[in-house]
Amino acid sequence: MTQDELKQLVGQAAADYVVANVPEGAVIGVGTGSTANCFIDALAASKGRYRGAVSSSLATTARLQSHGIKVFDLNEIDSLPVYVDGADEIDGSGAMIKGGGGALTREKIVASVSDVFVCIADASKRVDVMGTFPLPVEVVPMARTAVGRRLAALGGVPVLRVTKEGAPFITDNGNEILDVKGLSITDPRGLEARINALPGVVTVGLFAARGADLCLLGGANGVERITYGK
Ligand code: 5RP
Repeated sequence: MTQDELKQLVGQAAADYVVANVPEGAVIGVGTGSTANCFIDALAASKGRYRGAVSSSLATTARLQSHGIKVFDLNEIDSLPVYVDGADEIDGSGAMIKGGGGALTREKIVASVSDVFVCIADASKRVDVMGTFPLPVEVVPMARTAVGRRLAALGGVPVLRVTKEGAPFITDNGNEILDVKGLSITDPRGLEARINALPGVVTVGLFAARGADLCLLGGANGVERITYGK
C-alpha cells in the first residue's frame, strides 16, 4: 500500500473507533494534516451522530465545514471525549513530534482538553528515538533569534520555517516556527518542559507530558492498535 492509502486506512479506522467508543451527541476534537484530513473525510459519513467538532487549525475548520460538520469554539466546550490527530514521529511511549503542518499550538490546546488522544499514523512515523524529523517550535517573532540561541545551546540546529516563496511561515496565531534539526530526543518530557520554559516560546511540538493514549498505526498488515499506559 502507498503512504496515502495507509493514511486513508487509519483515517477510516479512527472514524470507526469514534463510532464505537464516543456517545452520540458528543463534540469531537480534530487535528490537522493529511492524515487528519482522511479522518475528517471518513467522519463525514457518520456526522449525524455528533454535535460537531473543535478544530485545531483554520485548514481543518475549512475541511470540517466543507462536509457540513459544525465547528465549535473551544471556549464553548467543557470536555472532549476524544481528540484524533496525526504525528510526524511517535515513540514507544506514545510521545510525539507534531507541528509539521504548523498547527502545533492549537493541537496541543485541544488535545489537553480531551479524555483520549488517538494518534493516527502510517508505520513510517513510528521511531525508537525521536529527532530525525526536525522539532517544530512556535515562537513570538521578536524572540526568534534569542530562542534560536537557546535551542542551539541544547544541541539543536534551529532553522526558520519559510514558505515556497521564501517568506517566514506564519502560524494561525501570527507567530513563526523554528524547526530544530539534529536532536536525539531521549528524554521527551524533560526536553518539552525545558523548551516550553524559554521566554518567547509559544509551544514546542513535543507531545510527551500529554502524549497519545492510543495509536492506530497503518502498515503492510493493516491497522495495528497500540495502547500506552500512563
Ligand atoms: C500538523 C501536525 C500533523 O499531525 C503532522 O505534521 C502529521 O501530518 P501528516 O498527517 O500530513 O503527515 O502535527 O501540525
